[in-house]
Amino acid sequence: MKRAKITIVGAGNVGATCAHWCAAAELGDVVLLDIPQTEDMPKGKALDLMQASPIVGFDSNIVGTTDYADTKDSDVVVITAGIPRKPGMSRDDLLATNAKIVTAVTEQIKTTSPNCAIIVVSNPLDAMVQQAQKVSGFPANRVMGQAGVLDTARYRTFIAMELGVSVEDVSAMLMGGHGDTMVPMPSCTSVGGIPVTRLMDEKRLEEIVDRARKGGAEIVGLLKTGSAYYAPAAATAQMVEAIVRDKKRLIPCAAYCDKEYGVGGYYVGVPVILGSDGVEKVVELDLTEQEKSDFQKSVDAVKGLVEAMDKLLAS
Ligand code: NAI
Ligand code: 2OP
Repeated sequence: MKRAKITIVGAGNVGATCAHWCAAAELGDVVLLDIPQTEDMPKGKALDLMQASPIVGFDSNIVGTTDYADTKDSDVVVITAGIPRKPGMSRDDLLATNAKIVTAVTEQIKTTSPNCAIIVVSNPLDAMVQQAQKVSGFPANRVMGQAGVLDTARYRTFIAMELGVSVEDVSAMLMGGHGDTMVPMPSCTSVGGIPVTRLMDEKRLEEIVDRARKGGAEIVGLLKTGSAYYAPAAATAQMVEAIVRDKKRLIPCAAYCDKEYGVGGYYVGVPVILGSDGVEKVVELDLTEQEKSDFQKSVDAVKGLVEAMDKLLAS
């Protein structure tokens, strides 16, 4: 059986680190693409990563390029192209620039890899994934966004740190958009099978939720020159793995919801089953009144963002 072909568009921090995680886990051959202005940078990163393969022990071919011909017939395309946040910027400040970049990238992908699954990472995530689906015209299940795995990982990390337990024992779910309106679900958070609410008081859990919600900004404030990339790239590689290995992972991701949760035709973070057919199912949970109202606020924020993007692109 052939190895999967994984293209990563944008060979910057998230893209190159995602290539690293994908290669190290032998998820397939990797093509790392950036714009011609970067000249040989993607080639340099790809060659450097290839030279790690005998040490780490992975058989993945890694190609760096600025030519979409090299990405032909990819099974999965990850879009990390765009600008990241600097201190004081919100994800939404990236809207105009990244909407144009994601549009241009998707136009190339749809002709060079017509059967691929697209995982969008560029921010503001929920609007960018909506745009990628619109431009590609691909079935909605084959276009999705990465945010929930990262946001949940941040939340899980902080819970493990607080309780002094292994991160492996912390299981959690978050919903909503990738931003300040994300909706934590304490009812779906457990530690070694024990509901987190039996191990921590409500106030402390709320503080942890708040830190996870602002997790991206915390890293931006520390790095000063860009935004997080190790965890975002690992989260994206986990989604790539779910698809190329048909894992049927039940994880949160930005998926198209029409009747689901009454969203009405937008991409928003929800629990899904992710496998070789992309988003194979959106898992619908009975939400509490509080969760419903928080989720609705998040959906409204996503709708506002998509409307703003559409206006910017039309002007
Ligand atoms: P970066 O600046 O290190 O890399 C971005 C790369 O995209 C650059 O190498 C740039 O040359 C390239 N690029 C720009 N226009 C392009 C085009 N038309 N075609 C191909 N490549 C192009 O930025 P970083 O840190 O890698 O972040 C990338 C994006 O991912 C940002 O929008 C950031 O906000 C987002 N992000 C999203 C996360 C999520 O959870 N969804 C988490 C972390 C970052
Ligand atoms: C993050 O959450 C900036 O979206 C990026 O780190």
